[in-house]
Amino acid sequence: MPQPHLRTVVVLAAGEGKRMKSALPKVLHPLLGRTLLGHVLTAAAPLAADRTVVVVGHGAEQVRAHLTEIAPDATPVLQAQQLGTGHAVRIALEAVPEAAGTVVVINGDVPLLRGETVAALVAAHEGEGAAATVLAAEVPDPTGLGRIVRDAAGRLEQIVEERDATPAQRALREINAGIYAFDAVRLRDALGKLSTDNDQGEEYLTDVFGLLVSAGEPVGVHVAADHVETLGCNDRVELAGLRRLLRDRVNEAWMRTGVSILDPDTTWIDVTATVERDAVIDQNTQLRGTTVVGAEAVVGPDVTLVDTVVGAAATVLRSHAVGAEVGPGASVGPYAYLRPAARLAEKSKVGTFVEVKNSEVGPGAKVPHLSYVGDATIGAKANIGAATIFVNYDGVNKHRTTVGEAAFIGCDTSLIAPVEVGAGAYVAAGSAITQDVPPGALGVTRAPQRSIDGWVTRKRAGTASAAAAERALAEGASAGGPVAREGEAIHGGAETVRRASGAGDTATE
Ligand code: UD1
Ligand code: MG
Repeated sequence: MPQPHLRTVVVLAAGEGKRMKSALPKVLHPLLGRTLLGHVLTAAAPLAADRTVVVVGHGAEQVRAHLTEIAPDATPVLQAQQLGTGHAVRIALEAVPEAAGTVVVINGDVPLLRGETVAALVAAHEGEGAAATVLAAEVPDPTGLGRIVRDAAGRLEQIVEERDATPAQRALREINAGIYAFDAVRLRDALGKLSTDNDQGEEYLTDVFGLLVSAGEPVGVHVAADHVETLGCNDRVELAGLRRLLRDRVNEAWMRTGVSILDPDTTWIDVTATVERDAVIDQNTQLRGTTVVGAEAVVGPDVTLVDTVVGAAATVLRSHAVGAEVGPGASVGPYAYLRPAARLAEKSKVGTFVEVKNSEVGPGAKVPHLSYVGDATIGAKANIGAATIFVNYDGVNKHRTTVGEAAFIGCDTSLIAPVEVGAGAYVAAGSAITQDVPPGALGVTRAPQRSIDGWVTRKRAGTASAAAAERALAEGASAGGPVAREGEAIHGGAETVRRASGAGDTATE
């Protein structure tokens, strides 16, 4: 016989959750950074159980796959037919013959449960040497839940399901939270004696309590300090209610550590995200996944950050980021989109209507407006003018662009990868760069400009433009200035190109 297990956790997750009306098994629905099942397993983690068993049934393959990701040490056990919570625990224990000391059973749909509360339940149970202890709570609305029935001396007599209860029992507001600690030996014994003589024809785990009481075994009730922790989730309305309660709990905890949350009702922080002291989170902001917001950073309003790290004292305004890094003191938005592996160095800037993907923006470098930066390395202090596009995709492969330190890219430029602009180089506005620009050189690819005099008068006669042109030309004539006569001149050529190469008109600030 292998080493006996002194603590075993059993999570019940085989039910369908009919009222969710979902293709996704109920326990896999997400709630601020974890699934319902993930929250329950996290609450059980401080127990340091020798073994954690998860009873799976509905959507077993999906639940198993999720367990491999979040709790690879947990053992899934299949309950092919859902014949009741007692049946589920019986099957779970058949898979763990080593279970000897305490068995903790937790319904899979109580995501607000805290680790401290389960630990207190188990401590009370083990401290009293009880055969079984149930977590109970006084709730404002006990509809649908099992009631705790006590005798005149206040000792637990039985747990009765609402559908099997007498009117007097239904009036009780002390409910069974669906979280229990059992002595393994006495639990096994009682599970073997369960009947299906109830309204649902199921084996009820809760009947174990009545059986133990009749046998003269000591059973206990541990009352939760905060009934909110015991709330279950049966439909999407309840799920939304739990999400609001968890949001408030998470926000309050961060505010108590020194984070400013300007509008807690519209700030949604996953339990897996981190916010450092003196950060300011403005309204309508979501911090999801493994996001970290650094000290004194200002995030929001209207920001969603997914798995994104924001450095100290950075600002992110009305923007969306996934898998990005924003360096200390950097500035993002309004209206920026940072995609995976966008890495913004210290004090860099990514401004309005700018998308960045798989690129480094160097320290102090700026991409202020209307640009796409994909597969690029931008050097320190480089300035990328408005409407610069890093053309990274040829339809089959992605290519990289490098822009050197303190390089200056004029507005409306395409940098067609693979290409390199050297340190301190300039690129004239409106260029399409396909060849490397050496350090300190000016790259320019503009076509010469032509101005065809009188074109509007001839081709757009009768329009507002033609009328305006005629007025301007007449004013010019009466002022004694040069007047272009119809059909006279087509300007352009070398002169125009020389003017453009001045490059002073290449960028916006
Ligand atoms: C159960 C309790 C009830 C308690 C309530 C708390 C019983 C008989 N009743 O009722 O006293 O107040 O929880 O929320 O236990 N499950 C299985 N296999 C099954 C049946 C259920 O794994 O054959 C799982 C479900 O997925 C769920 C949990 O057990 O996670 C509870 O089942 P559910 O049907 O929700 O029980 P309730 O009627 O809510
Ligand atoms: Mg339930």
